[in-house]
Amino acid sequence: QSSDSQTLIKMYEEAAKLYSHILLKTENGTPALKYLNGRDLDDKLIETFNLGYAPNNSNLLLQFFKNRKIDDSVLRKSGLFAENQEGELFDRFRDRVMVPITDESGNIIAFSGRILNKADGVAKYMNSPETSIFNKSKALFNLNNAKKTIRDNKNVILFEGFMDVISAYKSGVTNGVASMGTSLTDQQLYTLSRLTDQINICYDGDDPGVEATYRAVTQLNDDRFSYGVISVPNKKDPDEYIRSEGGEAFKNLVNNGVQTPMSFLLNYFKRNYNLSNEHDQIEFLNRSLNEIVKLQSPVEVDMYVGRIADEMNVSKESINKELDTLRRRMA
Ligand code: UTP
Ligand code: MN
Ligand code: MN
Ligand code: MN
Ligand code: MN
Repeated sequence: QSSDSQTLIKMYEEAAKLYSHILLKTENGTPALKYLNGRDLDDKLIETFNLGYAPNNSNLLLQFFKNRKIDDSVLRKSGLFAENQEGELFDRFRDRVMVPITDESGNIIAFSGRILNKADGVAKYMNSPETSIFNKSKALFNLNNAKKTIRDNKNVILFEGFMDVISAYKSGVTNGVASMGTSLTDQQLYTLSRLTDQINICYDGDDPGVEATYRAVTQLNDDRFSYGVISVPNKKDPDEYIRSEGGEAFKNLVNNGVQTPMSFLLNYFKRNYNLSNEHDQIEFLNRSLNEIVKLQSPVEVDMYVGRIADEMNVSKESINKELDTLRRRMA
């Protein structure tokens, strides 16, 4: 690593220390600490994830580093500051709970800051910009902690949000990671491929989360992996589910509720059709068969054909005939 990167890594570490101190040890941090405790995050978990608080002050961090005689040019490259119209620097993160993002070895390379109270026109999470140490499409939140369990459990759980990863960790589900609010990149897939060959997607149960899961199962066709889907009930996200149903219920979901992508797809299609209407029934069947026909394994095909035949009250023979027609059309 270049000495430039070393300097930035050191700065992020010091910034995280300062934010953590403010959160845990000062009166300025009290509202943020109350906020986190209100989300069932205790001090131990806050320390594990090194959470902090950036107070509502536009030159706290700036002054801190100026006192340490850090060069202006380095401050500008650090991503920790923004610039006003006069070209003066000010603290990028203000009045936010600070979530450090680490690289695979645990060095802090960026922050995501969450506002305490949601306000119009303000992003709920603000992420560090890309720097010489932070490549957004490479980073995976919590990978450094999760690595060992990913290897041991032979699978990784992919969450949408940082808070989902943290809540899951609290429940004992410690093989979770999250990307920076985007879909998985080739670089992230490469990183994961060195640890496991099974990716279980556990996105939010709300409509955007279900749509993102649909995109993931239809677009992730990297054949180094098999994929699973963990659907969170009642439109909750994993963190909300854990807080309302408890950690054991979530563990149970993770251990026993992993669906195949096909199972997810069939349920996904189902929710988009009104199955008491015959027109929709036929659309649903066509849509489903168009996916089933892509499966390689005859046993799997038979399983889903059986499931659809039962649910739709049609014979397996007629469904198999339809599949033959589709196969001929594809050939
Ligand atoms: P969600 O809206 O599901 O947030 O976005 P969340 O994780 O449940 O957050 P809490 O529980 O309200 O604190 C999922 C992820 O999308 C990215 C973040 O990575 C977030 O964790 N995101 C979301 C952003 O980057 N910016 C935003 O303004 C919102
Ligand atoms: Mn969401
Ligand atoms: Mn969410
Ligand atoms: Mn949400
Ligand atoms: Mn949430």
